[in-house]
Amino acid sequence: MTDALLTASGVHVAFPGRRGAPPSRAVDGVDLEIGAGEIVALVGESGCGKTTLARTLLGLVRPGAGTVSFAGEPLAYTSRALKAYRRRAQLVLQDPSGSLNPRHTVYEAVAEGLRIHGYAGDERAAVAEALARAGLRPPERFFLRYPHELSGGQRQRVVIAGALVLEPELIVADEPVASLDASVRGEILALLLRLRDELGLSALVVTHDLGLAWNIADRVAVMYLGRVVETGPVESVLTAPRHPYTRALLSVLPESETAPVVLSGEPPDPARVPGGCRFHARCQVLASGEAARVADRCRTEPLPVLRAGGGGRGVACHWATAREDG
Ligand SMILES: Nc1ncnc2c1ncn2[C@@H]1O[C@H](COP(=O)(O)OP(=O)(O)OP(=O)(O)O)[C@@H](O)[C@H]1O
Ligand code: SF4
Ligand SMILES: [Mg+2]
Repeated sequence: MTDALLTASGVHVAFPGRRGAPPSRAVDGVDLEIGAGEIVALVGESGCGKTTLARTLLGLVRPGAGTVSFAGEPLAYTSRALKAYRRRAQLVLQDPSGSLNPRHTVYEAVAEGLRIHGYAGDERAAVAEALARAGLRPPERFFLRYPHELSGGQRQRVVIAGALVLEPELIVADEPVASLDASVRGEILALLLRLRDELGLSALVVTHDLGLAWNIADRVAVMYLGRVVETGPVESVLTAPRHPYTRALLSVLPESETAPVVLSGEPPDPARVPGGCRFHARCQVLASGEAARVADRCRTEPLPVLRAGGGGRGVACHWATAREDG
Protein backbone atom coordinates (compact mmCIF):
# COMPACT_ATOMS: atom_id res chain seq x y z
CA MET A 1 0.00 0.00 0.00
CA THR A 2 1.17 3.49 -0.88
CA ASP A 3 1.21 6.35 1.65
CA ALA A 4 -2.27 7.44 2.61
CA LEU A 5 -3.44 10.58 0.84
CA LEU A 6 -6.70 10.72 2.75
CA THR A 7 -7.40 9.22 6.15
CA ALA A 8 -10.71 9.09 7.98
CA SER A 9 -10.52 8.09 11.60
CA GLY A 10 -13.48 7.28 13.86
CA VAL A 11 -15.83 9.39 11.74
CA HIS A 12 -19.41 9.84 12.99
CA VAL A 13 -22.15 11.85 11.30
CA ALA A 14 -25.68 11.98 12.73
CA PHE A 15 -28.70 13.91 11.44
CA PRO A 16 -31.20 15.15 14.02
CA GLY A 17 -34.45 13.17 14.13
CA ARG A 18 -37.69 14.91 13.29
CA ARG A 19 -40.22 15.66 16.05
CA GLY A 20 -38.41 13.94 18.89
CA ALA A 21 -37.38 10.91 16.82
CA PRO A 22 -33.90 9.56 17.55
CA PRO A 23 -31.04 10.91 15.39
CA SER A 24 -30.11 9.16 12.20
CA ARG A 25 -26.61 7.73 12.66
CA ALA A 26 -25.78 7.86 8.94
CA VAL A 27 -22.02 7.34 9.46
CA ASP A 28 -21.42 5.58 12.74
CA GLY A 29 -17.72 5.04 13.27
CA VAL A 30 -15.72 4.69 10.06
CA ASP A 31 -12.01 4.44 9.43
CA LEU A 32 -10.91 4.62 5.82
CA GLU A 33 -7.72 5.30 3.89
CA ILE A 34 -7.18 6.22 0.27
CA GLY A 35 -3.61 5.88 -0.93
CA ALA A 36 -1.92 8.07 -3.54
CA GLY A 37 -2.79 6.71 -6.98
CA GLU A 38 -5.31 4.28 -5.55
CA ILE A 39 -8.95 3.72 -6.48
CA VAL A 40 -11.13 2.68 -3.55
CA ALA A 41 -14.72 1.57 -4.11
CA LEU A 42 -17.24 2.24 -1.36
CA VAL A 43 -20.16 -0.16 -1.79
CA GLY A 44 -23.37 -0.90 0.03
CA GLU A 45 -27.12 -0.73 -0.42
CA SER A 46 -29.17 2.45 -0.55
CA GLY A 47 -29.19 4.44 2.67
CA CYS A 48 -26.11 2.81 4.24
CA GLY A 49 -24.33 6.18 4.44
CA LYS A 50 -22.09 6.21 1.34
CA THR A 51 -22.93 9.71 0.15
CA THR A 52 -22.79 11.12 3.68
CA LEU A 53 -19.34 9.60 4.18
CA ALA A 54 -18.17 10.83 0.75
CA ARG A 55 -19.34 14.37 1.52
CA THR A 56 -17.63 14.21 4.90
CA LEU A 57 -14.34 13.19 3.28
CA LEU A 58 -14.63 16.26 1.04
CA GLY A 59 -15.23 18.58 3.99
CA LEU A 60 -18.82 19.29 2.86
CA VAL A 61 -20.14 17.76 6.08
CA ARG A 62 -18.35 18.25 9.37
CA PRO A 63 -18.23 15.03 11.38
CA GLY A 64 -19.78 15.02 14.86
CA ALA A 65 -16.78 13.00 16.00
CA GLY A 66 -13.59 11.75 14.39
CA THR A 67 -11.20 13.37 11.95
CA VAL A 68 -10.53 13.52 8.23
CA SER A 69 -6.94 14.22 7.22
CA PHE A 70 -5.55 14.96 3.79
CA ALA A 71 -1.83 14.60 3.09
CA GLY A 72 -1.28 14.20 6.81
CA GLU A 73 -3.10 17.40 7.84
CA PRO A 74 -6.51 17.35 9.56
CA LEU A 75 -9.12 19.31 7.58
CA ALA A 76 -9.77 22.80 8.93
CA TYR A 77 -13.41 23.85 8.65
CA THR A 78 -12.91 27.51 7.76
CA SER A 79 -14.20 28.73 4.40
CA ARG A 80 -10.69 29.66 3.32
CA ALA A 81 -9.19 26.27 4.19
CA LEU A 82 -12.09 24.42 2.60
CA LYS A 83 -11.76 26.44 -0.59
CA ALA A 84 -8.08 25.50 -0.77
CA TYR A 85 -9.00 21.86 -0.08
CA ARG A 86 -11.55 21.94 -2.90
CA ARG A 87 -8.71 22.34 -5.42
CA ARG A 88 -7.06 19.17 -4.18
CA ALA A 89 -10.15 16.99 -3.72
CA GLN A 90 -12.99 17.24 -6.21
CA LEU A 91 -16.50 15.82 -6.27
CA VAL A 92 -17.93 14.23 -9.44
CA LEU A 93 -21.68 13.92 -9.18
CA GLN A 94 -24.02 11.14 -10.12
CA ASP A 95 -26.28 12.76 -12.66
CA PRO A 96 -24.44 14.78 -15.31
CA SER A 97 -27.57 16.51 -16.53
CA GLY A 98 -28.29 17.66 -12.97
CA SER A 99 -24.78 18.95 -12.32
CA LEU A 100 -24.41 20.92 -15.60
CA ASN A 101 -26.16 24.25 -16.09
CA PRO A 102 -28.17 23.89 -19.35
CA ARG A 103 -27.44 27.53 -20.24
CA HIS A 104 -23.67 27.21 -19.91
CA THR A 105 -21.46 26.05 -22.75
CA VAL A 106 -18.98 23.25 -22.20
CA TYR A 107 -16.22 25.87 -22.06
CA GLU A 108 -17.98 27.84 -19.34
CA ALA A 109 -18.78 24.72 -17.36
CA VAL A 110 -15.15 23.61 -17.30
CA ALA A 111 -13.73 27.12 -16.77
CA GLU A 112 -16.00 27.78 -13.78
CA GLY A 113 -13.70 26.11 -11.25
CA LEU A 114 -10.70 28.04 -12.57
CA ARG A 115 -12.56 31.32 -12.19
CA ILE A 116 -13.73 30.52 -8.65
CA HIS A 117 -10.14 29.84 -7.68
CA GLY A 118 -8.74 32.92 -9.47
CA TYR A 119 -6.56 30.88 -11.81
CA ALA A 120 -3.83 33.11 -13.21
CA GLY A 121 -2.61 30.91 -16.09
CA ASP A 122 -3.88 30.43 -19.64
CA GLU A 123 -7.56 29.59 -19.09
CA ARG A 124 -8.23 28.45 -22.65
CA ALA A 125 -5.28 26.06 -22.62
CA ALA A 126 -6.28 24.65 -19.23
CA VAL A 127 -9.88 24.03 -20.37
CA ALA A 128 -8.65 22.38 -23.57
CA GLU A 129 -6.26 20.15 -21.66
CA ALA A 130 -8.93 19.06 -19.16
CA LEU A 131 -11.40 18.22 -21.96
CA ALA A 132 -8.75 16.25 -23.81
CA ARG A 133 -7.83 14.37 -20.65
CA ALA A 134 -11.49 13.52 -20.18
CA GLY A 135 -11.51 12.08 -23.72
CA LEU A 136 -13.30 14.93 -25.53
CA ARG A 137 -11.03 15.46 -28.54
CA PRO A 138 -10.34 17.72 -30.26
CA PRO A 139 -11.38 19.83 -27.27
CA GLU A 140 -12.05 23.03 -29.25
CA ARG A 141 -14.90 21.26 -31.03
CA PHE A 142 -16.74 21.03 -27.71
CA PHE A 143 -16.11 24.56 -26.41
CA LEU A 144 -19.34 26.12 -27.64
CA ARG A 145 -21.64 23.14 -27.28
CA TYR A 146 -24.48 23.08 -24.74
CA PRO A 147 -25.26 20.09 -22.53
CA HIS A 148 -28.39 19.16 -24.51
CA GLU A 149 -26.27 18.78 -27.66
CA LEU A 150 -24.17 16.05 -26.02
CA SER A 151 -24.74 12.38 -25.26
CA GLY A 152 -25.00 11.21 -21.64
CA GLY A 153 -21.45 9.85 -21.76
CA GLN A 154 -20.11 13.12 -23.18
CA ARG A 155 -21.90 15.09 -20.46
CA GLN A 156 -20.31 12.89 -17.81
CA ARG A 157 -16.92 13.55 -19.43
CA VAL A 158 -17.57 17.31 -19.23
CA VAL A 159 -18.31 16.94 -15.51
CA ILE A 160 -15.07 14.98 -15.09
CA ALA A 161 -13.16 17.64 -17.09
CA GLY A 162 -14.61 20.29 -14.76
CA ALA A 163 -13.11 18.36 -11.84
CA LEU A 164 -9.77 17.71 -13.59
CA VAL A 165 -9.17 21.30 -14.63
CA LEU A 166 -8.04 22.19 -11.10
CA GLU A 167 -5.54 19.32 -11.18
CA PRO A 168 -6.83 17.66 -8.01
CA GLU A 169 -5.05 14.80 -6.29
CA LEU A 170 -8.29 13.03 -5.39
CA ILE A 171 -11.68 12.75 -6.98
CA VAL A 172 -14.72 11.44 -5.20
CA ALA A 173 -17.21 10.08 -7.71
CA ASP A 174 -20.68 9.37 -6.31
CA GLU A 175 -22.35 6.76 -8.52
CA PRO A 176 -20.50 8.15 -11.57
CA VAL A 177 -22.13 5.85 -14.10
CA ALA A 178 -25.51 5.08 -12.51
CA SER A 179 -27.42 7.14 -15.05
CA LEU A 180 -25.52 5.88 -18.11
CA ASP A 181 -26.17 3.05 -20.56
CA ALA A 182 -24.16 -0.11 -20.02
CA SER A 183 -22.05 0.50 -23.15
CA VAL A 184 -21.00 3.97 -21.98
CA ARG A 185 -20.33 2.87 -18.40
CA GLY A 186 -17.30 0.84 -19.45
CA GLU A 187 -15.83 3.84 -21.27
CA ILE A 188 -16.18 6.13 -18.25
CA LEU A 189 -14.69 3.52 -15.94
CA ALA A 190 -11.80 3.04 -18.37
CA LEU A 191 -11.29 6.80 -18.27
CA LEU A 192 -10.99 6.79 -14.46
CA LEU A 193 -8.43 3.99 -14.67
CA ARG A 194 -6.44 5.89 -17.28
CA LEU A 195 -6.44 9.00 -15.07
CA ARG A 196 -5.09 6.94 -12.20
CA ASP A 197 -2.34 5.50 -14.38
CA GLU A 198 -1.39 8.68 -16.25
CA LEU A 199 -1.84 11.31 -13.54
CA GLY A 200 -1.47 9.22 -10.39
CA LEU A 201 -4.96 10.42 -9.45
CA SER A 202 -6.61 8.85 -6.41
CA ALA A 203 -10.33 8.18 -6.44
CA LEU A 204 -13.11 7.11 -4.16
CA VAL A 205 -15.85 5.59 -6.29
CA VAL A 206 -19.18 5.30 -4.50
CA THR A 207 -21.50 2.65 -5.89
CA HIS A 208 -24.17 0.20 -4.85
CA ASP A 209 -22.84 -2.12 -7.58
CA LEU A 210 -20.18 -4.62 -6.50
CA GLY A 211 -19.69 -5.63 -10.13
CA LEU A 212 -18.61 -2.10 -10.95
CA ALA A 213 -16.22 -2.11 -8.00
CA TRP A 214 -14.68 -5.27 -9.39
CA ASN A 215 -13.94 -3.57 -12.71
CA ILE A 216 -12.34 -0.47 -11.37
CA ALA A 217 -11.10 -0.53 -7.81
CA ASP A 218 -7.82 -1.47 -6.22
CA ARG A 219 -9.49 -1.76 -2.84
CA VAL A 220 -13.05 -2.03 -1.67
CA ALA A 221 -14.85 -1.03 1.52
CA VAL A 222 -18.26 -2.62 2.06
CA MET A 223 -20.57 -0.46 4.15
CA TYR A 224 -23.62 -1.55 6.15
CA LEU A 225 -25.71 0.78 8.28
CA GLY A 226 -23.07 3.43 8.80
CA ARG A 227 -20.09 1.10 9.30
CA VAL A 228 -17.48 -0.52 7.08
CA VAL A 229 -18.02 -4.25 7.63
CA GLU A 230 -15.41 -5.63 5.24
CA THR A 231 -12.42 -4.14 3.49
CA GLY A 232 -9.39 -5.25 1.52
CA PRO A 233 -7.90 -5.59 -1.96
CA VAL A 234 -10.77 -5.89 -4.43
CA GLU A 235 -9.63 -9.20 -5.88
CA SER A 236 -9.39 -10.90 -2.51
CA VAL A 237 -12.63 -9.48 -1.03
CA LEU A 238 -14.68 -10.33 -4.09
CA THR A 239 -13.27 -13.78 -4.74
CA ALA A 240 -13.25 -14.80 -1.07
CA PRO A 241 -15.79 -12.65 0.80
CA ARG A 242 -15.77 -13.18 4.56
CA HIS A 243 -18.69 -11.09 5.79
CA PRO A 244 -22.18 -12.59 5.27
CA TYR A 245 -23.37 -9.21 3.96
CA THR A 246 -20.62 -9.10 1.30
CA ARG A 247 -21.56 -12.66 0.38
CA ALA A 248 -25.20 -11.66 0.01
CA LEU A 249 -24.32 -8.68 -2.21
CA LEU A 250 -22.11 -10.87 -4.38
CA SER A 251 -24.69 -13.64 -4.66
CA VAL A 252 -27.06 -11.42 -6.63
CA LEU A 253 -24.53 -10.46 -9.32
CA PRO A 254 -25.43 -12.03 -12.70
CA GLU A 255 -22.11 -13.89 -12.85
CA SER A 256 -22.49 -15.38 -9.35
CA GLU A 257 -22.27 -19.15 -9.07
CA THR A 258 -23.96 -19.30 -5.66
CA ALA A 259 -27.73 -19.12 -5.10
CA PRO A 260 -28.97 -15.55 -4.59
CA VAL A 261 -29.30 -14.69 -0.88
CA VAL A 262 -32.50 -12.85 -0.05
CA LEU A 263 -31.89 -10.84 3.11
CA SER A 264 -34.70 -11.12 5.62
CA GLY A 265 -35.81 -8.59 8.20
CA GLU A 266 -36.48 -4.89 8.04
CA PRO A 267 -34.41 -2.65 5.75
CA PRO A 268 -31.81 -0.97 7.92
CA ASP A 269 -32.76 2.31 9.61
CA PRO A 270 -29.90 4.48 10.89
CA ALA A 271 -32.24 5.92 13.54
CA ARG A 272 -32.57 2.43 15.02
CA VAL A 273 -29.23 0.70 14.94
CA PRO A 274 -29.67 -2.75 16.51
CA GLY A 275 -27.50 -3.88 19.39
CA GLY A 276 -24.88 -6.58 18.95
CA CYS A 277 -23.82 -7.02 15.34
CA ARG A 278 -25.84 -4.41 13.46
CA PHE A 279 -26.53 -6.93 10.68
CA HIS A 280 -27.79 -9.71 12.96
CA ALA A 281 -31.52 -9.43 12.27
CA ARG A 282 -30.90 -9.97 8.55
CA CYS A 283 -27.89 -12.27 8.62
CA GLN A 284 -28.43 -15.39 6.54
CA VAL A 285 -25.55 -17.21 8.23
CA LEU A 286 -27.04 -16.61 11.70
CA ALA A 287 -30.55 -17.54 10.49
CA SER A 288 -29.34 -20.81 8.97
CA GLY A 289 -27.74 -21.95 12.24
CA GLU A 290 -24.29 -21.95 10.70
CA ALA A 291 -23.16 -19.31 13.19
CA ALA A 292 -24.71 -21.12 16.21
CA ARG A 293 -21.37 -21.16 18.03
CA VAL A 294 -21.29 -17.35 18.15
CA ALA A 295 -25.04 -16.64 18.04
CA ASP A 296 -25.16 -15.01 21.49
CA ARG A 297 -22.30 -12.74 20.60
CA CYS A 298 -23.98 -11.85 17.28
CA ARG A 299 -27.05 -10.63 19.18
CA THR A 300 -25.34 -8.83 22.04
CA GLU A 301 -21.69 -8.00 21.39
CA PRO A 302 -21.02 -5.00 19.14
CA LEU A 303 -18.15 -5.28 16.71
CA PRO A 304 -15.19 -2.92 16.87
CA VAL A 305 -14.60 -0.35 14.12
CA LEU A 306 -12.39 -1.83 11.41
CA ARG A 307 -9.06 -0.09 11.55
CA ALA A 308 -7.88 1.57 8.37
CA GLY A 309 -4.37 1.24 7.12
CA GLY A 310 -1.91 -1.37 6.14
CA GLY A 311 -3.87 -2.25 3.01
CA GLY A 312 -4.71 -5.65 4.46
CA ARG A 313 -8.06 -7.33 4.85
CA GLY A 314 -10.49 -6.63 7.62
CA VAL A 315 -13.88 -8.04 8.56
CA ALA A 316 -16.31 -7.08 11.33
CA CYS A 317 -18.06 -10.41 11.99
CA HIS A 318 -17.87 -12.69 15.04
CA TRP A 319 -18.48 -15.80 12.94
CA ALA A 320 -15.87 -15.02 10.26
CA THR A 321 -13.26 -14.21 12.88
CA ALA A 322 -14.02 -17.28 15.06
CA ARG A 323 -13.95 -19.58 12.02
CA GLU A 324 -10.59 -18.28 10.90
CA ASP A 325 -9.13 -18.45 14.39
CA GLY A 326 -10.22 -22.11 14.48
N1 LIG B 1 -29.57 15.83 5.18
C1 LIG B 1 -30.07 14.75 5.79
N2 LIG B 1 -30.95 14.86 6.82
C2 LIG B 1 -31.44 13.78 7.46
N3 LIG B 1 -31.12 12.51 7.14
C3 LIG B 1 -30.26 12.33 6.12
C4 LIG B 1 -29.70 13.43 5.39
N4 LIG B 1 -28.87 12.92 4.43
C5 LIG B 1 -28.91 11.57 4.55
N5 LIG B 1 -29.75 11.22 5.57
C6 LIG B 1 -30.03 9.85 6.01
O1 LIG B 1 -28.77 9.24 6.27
C7 LIG B 1 -28.79 7.90 5.80
C8 LIG B 1 -27.65 7.68 4.81
O2 LIG B 1 -27.93 8.41 3.64
P1 LIG B 1 -26.91 8.46 2.40
O3 LIG B 1 -27.49 9.37 1.39
O4 LIG B 1 -25.57 8.78 2.92
O5 LIG B 1 -26.95 6.96 1.90
P2 LIG B 1 -26.38 6.31 0.54
O6 LIG B 1 -25.66 5.08 0.96
O7 LIG B 1 -25.63 7.31 -0.24
O8 LIG B 1 -27.71 5.88 -0.21
P3 LIG B 1 -28.00 5.83 -1.81
O9 LIG B 1 -27.35 4.57 -2.32
O10 LIG B 1 -29.49 5.74 -1.86
O11 LIG B 1 -27.45 7.07 -2.43
C9 LIG B 1 -30.17 7.66 5.22
O12 LIG B 1 -30.96 7.04 6.19
C10 LIG B 1 -30.66 9.03 4.91
O13 LIG B 1 -32.07 9.07 5.00
S1 SF4 C 1 -21.44 -11.18 13.50
FE1 SF4 C 1 -23.00 -12.79 13.42
S2 SF4 C 1 -24.86 -11.74 12.77
FE2 SF4 C 1 -23.14 -10.39 12.30
S3 SF4 C 1 -22.62 -10.86 10.21
FE3 SF4 C 1 -21.32 -12.13 11.46
S4 SF4 C 1 -22.46 -14.05 11.67
FE4 SF4 C 1 -23.89 -12.54 10.93
MG1 LIG D 1 -25.88 8.10 -2.15
